[in-house]
Amino acid sequence: MPNPLEFQPANPLPQLSPAVPLELRAATLEDIPRLYDLIKYWAERGRMLERSPELLASTIHEFLLLEDQHHGFAGVVGLHRMAEDLAEVRGLAVAPNYQGKGLGRWLVLGAERMARDWGLKRLFAWTYEQRFFERCGYARIPREEATLPQEIYGECQRCPFLTNCKEIPMLKLIDLPKPVVAS
Ligand SMILES: CC(C)(COP(=O)(O)OP(=O)(O)OC[C@H]1O[C@@H](n2cnc3c(N)ncnc32)[C@H](O)[C@@H]1OP(=O)(O)O)[C@@H](O)C(=O)NCCC(=O)NCCS
Repeated sequence: MPNPLEFQPANPLPQLSPAVPLELRAATLEDIPRLYDLIKYWAERGRMLERSPELLASTIHEFLLLEDQHHGFAGVVGLHRMAEDLAEVRGLAVAPNYQGKGLGRWLVLGAERMARDWGLKRLFAWTYEQRFFERCGYARIPREEATLPQEIYGECQRCPFLTNCKEIPMLKLIDLPKPVVAS
């Protein structure tokens, strides 16, 4: 997995302590138990939607995770493509012992880098964490955003708050790198 630091994101990447080197890498099937546990931990606290091991297995290629030198699991993020130019940031979670150290933003920017590699221009997220996503360059959008496809409601069917949804829809437009013109 390329280092997101190599890219020029719209927001500067946070400074991580050199004492805690972390690697951002693609998730594999072997990671599923730990991935499941972390997402479940926050889902049980009403902060995000649970993901079954089966669902994780069928979408494992969508996930990046942050791991420390001792294979400690620091966080995870998923990126799900929904339309030609649009993907949803989903399954974002930072381990309880790594909260508030800039890793959430690092993960979101890692997903953003992946989106740029895929040539996508719009990133979408459902969240209770409006402030956090604003700090990552996202803006709140109307719930019935005409330019977004119905796919943004794809996960609502398995959400217990289907008819009483308090999640906030947020969007970020990303600049793609300019093509290099041969001289
Ligand atoms: C939300 C979450 C991913 C944030 O991760 P984090 O590593 O703690 O956040 P960061 O340290 O990267 O914070 C980045 C910025 O957002 C701000 N921020 C983070 N959480 C915030 C919150 N709950 N309210 C207000 N601001 C917040 C930070 O202060 C920081 O601001 P700065 O730019 O001034 O430095 C993490 O708290 C988490 O895993 N929560 C539980 C699961 C969850 O809610 N997932 C989101 C599902 S969409």
